[in-house]
Amino acid sequence: MNICDSDAVSLSLLTFGADKVNALVDADVAVLNTCSVRAQAEHKAYSWLGRAEELKAVKKDLKIIVIGCMAQRLGDKITKRFKSVDLVIGAKDIEEAAKKIIELQNKNSKAQKTDARSGKPDADISDFSLKLSTPSANPVRYLTIMRGCDNYCSYCVVPFVRGNEISLNCEDILKQCEIYAENGTKEIKFLGQNVNSYNYGGINFAALLEKASEIEKISRIRFMTNHPKDLSQDLIDAIASLPKVCNHIHLPMQSASDKILQSMNRKYTYSHYRLLVEQLRKKIPDINITTDIITGFPQETQEDFQATLRAVKDIRFGGAYIFRYSPRPNTAAAAMSDDVPIEEKKRRLQILLDETNKISAEIAASAVGRRRLVLAEKCEDGVLETRTKDNRKVFVKGSPQDIGKEIDVLIAQAKINSLFGEICK
Ligand code: 5AD
Ligand code: SF4
Repeated sequence: MNICDSDAVSLSLLTFGADKVNALVDADVAVLNTCSVRAQAEHKAYSWLGRAEELKAVKKDLKIIVIGCMAQRLGDKITKRFKSVDLVIGAKDIEEAAKKIIELQNKNSKAQKTDARSGKPDADISDFSLKLSTPSANPVRYLTIMRGCDNYCSYCVVPFVRGNEISLNCEDILKQCEIYAENGTKEIKFLGQNVNSYNYGGINFAALLEKASEIEKISRIRFMTNHPKDLSQDLIDAIASLPKVCNHIHLPMQSASDKILQSMNRKYTYSHYRLLVEQLRKKIPDINITTDIITGFPQETQEDFQATLRAVKDIRFGGAYIFRYSPRPNTAAAAMSDDVPIEEKKRRLQILLDETNKISAEIAASAVGRRRLVLAEKCEDGVLETRTKDNRKVFVKGSPQDIGKEIDVLIAQAKINSLFGEICK
């Protein structure tokens, strides 16, 4: 979601006549989009701000702007700690970010009122809309369909920084898909904290997938992320029956202990989760199921952890993001007594990581010798980065002309997170 927001802000700045540079030292305006989901993400932002501040000491005109969840969570505290930050724009105002950045630039430099290269006046800021922007060609595009979250999982800061759940207008979403498709996009990735609860004027997520499937030039549709409590039979049937919808689902499990799931306020049991896995696998051939897991949640006992480890071995996820529990301000879990020492959280994380890596490698290896239809996304030094429908990266020799094409490849080699193949003639 942050990648999507960053792309949208950067695209809008380009529309207003800005140029993108590759290094911080070359920038007049540096925008840092931030994440608050774990403490580590915030630490990364602090160290980046430290570096930006050092640069500003010698490059006085540099504008430093902080946007996103951390900006929302901390507001003025950021400017108090980092005096050189010029503007803080929270996640709830992200659609206004580009406009505010341009306003700041215009205020600081009258010369910026006109684009120096073209001599054209700046775009009219009041007309500005992030929702319907014309993109450059890109075979894969993220598209935010929902903002915020109402679920209040007890560990999670998202509802506090991104606000209440809102489903965006279905017509706007489809219109944007069409604009992307006309500009060469082949794959759309719908984004939301829980796309399973999308509902705009009675149009649910299954209906949105169906409508998006009708856009001729779009050949692949992906979505994330999913909440097991809202993954309905109708939606599983829609995924199964719509050929453009890819056979990959990211279904965060978090834990397989019912006691921990309850304390996380996840509103499902492990047996419900296990049943969903079974139904998905029955109805969608070769579906790749990936997940998120938290280790060392307050009061997670050895027994609770062993239940999660057993589930990982039993389900055999195609991939898993595993996180050490990190208390976040304002959340319900932050007030719970946390009796799992940090070293133990790390130990449990490592055990799960080793197990999931072993399983992912075995699953990846089983693809060797098989043909796969991949979409070419990027090309660097004669190597195409492509993706299977079940969301596995495949590297093949090719050229930039292949970008955006669906190609048949034969898988020759497998690593945990990527495959290597040859184009089938
Ligand atoms: N500590 C650790 N992991 C967290 N996540 C969210 N909040 C926390 C936290 N406080 C993880 C969850 C979620 C993923 C995006 O981040 O697993 O699914
Ligand atoms: Fe956070 Fe839960 Fe909402 Fe996901 S569903 S964003 S984990 S509160």
